[in-house]
Amino acid sequence: MSSPLTRKLTVNDLRQARESGRKLAMLTCYDFTTARLMHQAGVPALLVGDSAGNVLLGHPTTLPVTLAFMIEITAAVRRGAPLALLMADMPFGSYHGSVARGVRNVCRMVQRTGCDCVKLEVAESHFELVRALSDAGVAVVAHLGLRPQTVGLLGGYRTQGRTAREAQEIVALSLQMQRAGAAALLLEAVPAEVAQSVVEVTRVPVIGCGAGPHCHGHVIVTHDAVGLTENPPRFVPRLADLAAPAVAAFADYVQQVETGQYPAPQHEYQMKPDQKAQFLHKNETIPPARAYE
Ligand code: KIV
Repeated sequence: MSSPLTRKLTVNDLRQARESGRKLAMLTCYDFTTARLMHQAGVPALLVGDSAGNVLLGHPTTLPVTLAFMIEITAAVRRGAPLALLMADMPFGSYHGSVARGVRNVCRMVQRTGCDCVKLEVAESHFELVRALSDAGVAVVAHLGLRPQTVGLLGGYRTQGRTAREAQEIVALSLQMQRAGAAALLLEAVPAEVAQSVVEVTRVPVIGCGAGPHCHGHVIVTHDAVGLTENPPRFVPRLADLAAPAVAAFADYVQQVETGQYPAPQHEYQMKPDQKAQFLHKNETIPPARAYE
């Protein structure tokens, strides 16, 4: 059983995970209350992912998620988990168009949320942006492999790097991002061999999300792992089934209200006896319509 964090974790702890071989556990988090629970559980690293678009907002893709929304929820998570290493996802469209615009939006995210690093889903064309951000002192996590923001191009979500050519492209892009100054890499939905190769050829920490055991840390979408989503990906461990007790609790509430069991006397607020007497007496002597004039 973990205990609450006692010191602030930073990207140095991510680097340390690479050096020491001690794996870093990361969960997605999108709100203050859950962040508090994760803080109590000692979760060292949190990702405010744009998967919020799926699990919080019910969109079929992450594309509708806006920068303003990501900033709002990232700041909330920071308030709930002040000591965790906090990674903020830059949403679709917020780091495209020009390097200057990307830098401006990333700076806005960093300044308004207190996140420790930002994650961008990268292609070769993001080299200059990653370099400019790293020159500006921002810790960038380059997300490769399956990049859900490119669903329009992919035509769906599927494992990446299954062919030798695709695998080589992922390794080459990882090296490019390291050269551009990325502080870490995140590999989503790639075969374990591909992740192993990236780990071997690069010097920066590599976080896996469905990328096998060789990465220095692992992240999963929390809602998938605690049984709150339907059909989670097969690489996600089943940590709990929170859906069944939640559904039972909601149904119980409906039943309590409908049968008059709720509210019971212990759920009522009380007036002071003298005020109550005065109030009830007033109601008796003054016709209701005039009682509140
Ligand atoms: O948005 C997200 O939750 C992510 C993880 C799946 C890596 O990017």
